[in-house]
Amino acid sequence: MTITATASANTNIALIKYWGKADESLAIPVTSSLSLTLGGTRTTTTVSFDGGAGGEDAVTINGATPGGTARERVVRFLDLVRSRAGMTIPASVTSSSTVPLAAGLASSAAGFAALAAAATRAAGMRLDERALSRLARRGSGSATRSIFGGLVLWNAGVDDETSYAEPVDCDLTPAMVVVVVSAGRKTISSTQAMRHTMNTSPLYPAWAEASREDLRVALDAVRARDLPRLGEVVESNALGMHAAMIASRPSVVYWLPETLDVLHTVRVMRDEGFPVWATIDAGPNVKVLTTGEDADQVAAVLRDRIPCATTSVRYPGGGVRVEEVTA
Ligand code: PMV
Repeated sequence: MTITATASANTNIALIKYWGKADESLAIPVTSSLSLTLGGTRTTTTVSFDGGAGGEDAVTINGATPGGTARERVVRFLDLVRSRAGMTIPASVTSSSTVPLAAGLASSAAGFAALAAAATRAAGMRLDERALSRLARRGSGSATRSIFGGLVLWNAGVDDETSYAEPVDCDLTPAMVVVVVSAGRKTISSTQAMRHTMNTSPLYPAWAEASREDLRVALDAVRARDLPRLGEVVESNALGMHAAMIASRPSVVYWLPETLDVLHTVRVMRDEGFPVWATIDAGPNVKVLTTGEDADQVAAVLRDRIPCATTSVRYPGGGVRVEEVTA
């Protein structure tokens, strides 16, 4: 009997970043991180261990057959699920995302969270959310957090058992305005870039140390429903991460001139009274944290002032969902 399982997950944006692995093979991060899962950013994935095609896994992502590292990462993840389920049969995997892959939203987080849920169900396993979060971590670190909706804490932990995400109670109603200045593919993967930063940047230890305190401040601000305090530490934490990357030897610079334009505009808008704080991941695009109420107006102002960018509004979204299981 072959089980076909379909699951979906939204992407998430880190407010306090994950940058650096203490254990590469198990994807145990150096620091804990905090993120917001974004609605309307689902990747939906269907898996069945049906023999694949030509004796190998058959992988289709958004209608195309990926090669190279993209395929290897999926196959490696399927291997992990197969070894846990005690099976060897190749799988068919079909995945599609509702947001364009180059929309400036971390697609791997949603992708591996959905794959973890679909592949385990197709393999006849029933994992609870914490176990799924630990498994998704092995596909892509940030996928650990996409298992849950809303505000999510990833406890760094020290081993496979203790490194997992969990939801954080939150009475705030934040939103993210995503400002895409370039939809091009990144020049260096986050895995390579974080390894290089850890190995060569004299600023990395200082960022990691500061990040522990940043997380404490961020969680305090969430509990106190203090968005300005949260926003300040969110922006500082991301800029510190980029400062550490820029100080790597040779330097890792994800920013484009337009990235600085957006950062500058966010500062000016803050001076004008808008509740806006910027964060940037491993790319040139900027995500602006604001309130749910202000998001549309903030997006309109950003569109007006940065006309070359594509600007969209995202509100908090839900966690991983098993959509269908058929046998
Ligand atoms: O999940 P990865 O391995 O692609 O790393 C993600 C790293 C950042 O997006 C820059 C930060 C984060 O915490 O998501």
